[in-house]
Amino acid sequence: MASSNIALAERFTDGCYDQGLSEVLRGLLYIPRQLSHVWLYDERGCRLFEKICQLPEYYLTRTETGIMTRDASAMAALLGAQLAVIELGSGDGTKTRLLLDALVHPRSYVPVDIAASSLARTARAMQRDYPQLQVLPLCADFTRPLQLPPLGSARRLLYFPGSTLGNYAPEDAVRLLRSMREVAGPEGAALIGFDLIKERSLLERAYDDADGVTAEFNLNSLRHVNRRLGIGLDVSHFRHRAVWVAAEQRIEMHLVSTADQTARVGAAVIRLQRGDFIRTEYAYKYTLEGFARLAQQAGWSLSQGWSDAQRWFRVQLLAAN
Ligand code: AVJ
Repeated sequence: MASSNIALAERFTDGCYDQGLSEVLRGLLYIPRQLSHVWLYDERGCRLFEKICQLPEYYLTRTETGIMTRDASAMAALLGAQLAVIELGSGDGTKTRLLLDALVHPRSYVPVDIAASSLARTARAMQRDYPQLQVLPLCADFTRPLQLPPLGSARRLLYFPGSTLGNYAPEDAVRLLRSMREVAGPEGAALIGFDLIKERSLLERAYDDADGVTAEFNLNSLRHVNRRLGIGLDVSHFRHRAVWVAAEQRIEMHLVSTADQTARVGAAVIRLQRGDFIRTEYAYKYTLEGFARLAQQAGWSLSQGWSDAQRWFRVQLLAAN
């Protein structure tokens, strides 16, 4: 069962979400121009993101991994045995392993991701290293209703690390937390990693590194959408920008046009003047109070949480009841 599911995930092409041409065009034609952050994650994008996670400027991964290394056993003690772990946005599984190693007899692991090939890679490696665990990858956009595999009576833990929640504006974040609450069921729990508000320069550098890896990651989303939907925007006429928008408590990633340019897509004409920009990602940062408000609005109650000594990042446990 588990292995046939892994084989199934491998048959999807990358980015098995169904954002079509008309939705993308609507985003590009009207101001503020925007392109969904999901376009960041084709095969190359996933590899670039993994590279970002190793960068000195990108403190998030290293800080969260430190928290998991130090506190996973405390988390496991609160969570109990025989869990079904459902992970949203599966990544390379480093933090998940720290969690699974601490948990007592976890029963199943359901990684959910839109990037099919990286999902299959993670699932295969997990099944190899945790032979007792039922690994059931699900290639899906987790912002839409999930068709979960049967998980029996196991208590469900929704694991949402990496500050991925930060990609969503507050009302979308609440919607997502609410659907997680539904998937978890009345006895369920969630473990969410989120980034805390800190000094602007630290935040902006994390999203605009000296080696230009994040710039390439951002530009790659344009390559991806060009290739998939036949949009002829010239990637060489864009540059990467990351700004902290304090009033919204978020980083915005932009692709700034470095020339006047037009691209024809069927009957539509995308016109950009030099300096115009396309917004490609939000990365919200939170105070503990702000995060608590979102979680409570979605029907969760706050349980214990863990931060690093500098209070840069937090891993928060939520209970459904
Ligand atoms: C994977 C969404 C958590 O917002 O920090 C990294 C993506 N963007 N560098 C983040 C990202 C630019 C990352 N998340």
